[in-house]
Amino acid sequence: MESLPVPSVQAMVAATGGADVPSRYLRPEAAADVVAIAGEDQIPIIDYQRLLLDHSEESARLHRICQDWGFFQLINHSVPDDVVEGMKANIQQFFQFPAEVKKKFTQERGQLEGYGQLFVVSEDQKLDWADMMYLYTQPPEDRNLRFWPDQPANFKSTLDKYSAAVKDITDTLLATMAQNLGLEPEVIADTCVGGIQSVRMNYYPPCAQADKVVGFSPHSDSDLLTLVLQVNHVQGLQIKRNGSWFPVKPLQGAFVVNVGDILEIFTNGRYRSIEHRAVVNPKEERLSVAAFHSPHIHAMIGPLKEIVVHEDEAYKTVDHEDFMKLFFSAKLEGKSFLDRMKLRNEE
Ligand code: OGA
Ligand code: NI
Repeated sequence: MESLPVPSVQAMVAATGGADVPSRYLRPEAAADVVAIAGEDQIPIIDYQRLLLDHSEESARLHRICQDWGFFQLINHSVPDDVVEGMKANIQQFFQFPAEVKKKFTQERGQLEGYGQLFVVSEDQKLDWADMMYLYTQPPEDRNLRFWPDQPANFKSTLDKYSAAVKDITDTLLATMAQNLGLEPEVIADTCVGGIQSVRMNYYPPCAQADKVVGFSPHSDSDLLTLVLQVNHVQGLQIKRNGSWFPVKPLQGAFVVNVGDILEIFTNGRYRSIEHRAVVNPKEERLSVAAFHSPHIHAMIGPLKEIVVHEDEAYKTVDHEDFMKLFFSAKLEGKSFLDRMKLRNEE
């Protein structure tokens, strides 16, 4: 698995001032309708402490939100403030390092991890206006510390704490979701023992022609659940809702949580992964960090047998490794990857 090497957008903007945009980054479709739907200007909020304490009411809300939105903000979560703030500060500092420092962590051919970009599979494909850093964080034996920055000095220890804390929250959310779906909590939890977590730090430089580029192409995440932390104050995440792009306004310190493709497949479509994208700000850089959670590598990816006892399977069942190879071998294009996992294409 690999992504073709591409130039750093941050370095390009630093060198040219960012006024002219190379054609490889020009996206005529970028200015598509953005709408905040009347009466709704925010994605739903789930209170993690309430979910833990008063189980029934908040978990019933969680179930409806998973069916109706596929996206929510998680507040009052258990990750200590110093860990969240430490992650934000370290990521900002990492991307501010001179190019020579970041280069030490550049992706190598045949690998996804490191500093660079993902999902670039051809020389003529349009590119996203962003750089990123991608690391495997769980299970701990899968870590490739060669790609973990050695500065700032506490980068590794903070990421280690953050990784464990968000995995713990994800396991709890998944257990609640399983119960909401009428399953024993272990049905999903067992696949997450030794589950894979990867972390993607996104850096979106400003662009003078922000409405002509895309920070992150429309896609759905391939995993079970993603937890995104907004690193600075600049917004940019948008989700596809009722055919339009709906802007997400992250609350300070909250996680933006979304259903991924594997959860859609596991639940045979009861929970749907939602297409989303990131837009770029004309004046300010934007940073975010996404933690992706998938089952362990030996899990089969297909509708859970407990869900499809009384209904037809809508998705293929494939090996997790094959599933990942397929996901990383194509450019991101909405939910086209998931469509290829469907047994019949209804639409
Ligand atoms: C992602 C993603 C959005 C953002 O990393 O998969 O969708 O807000 N990020 O940067
Ligand atoms: Ni995403």
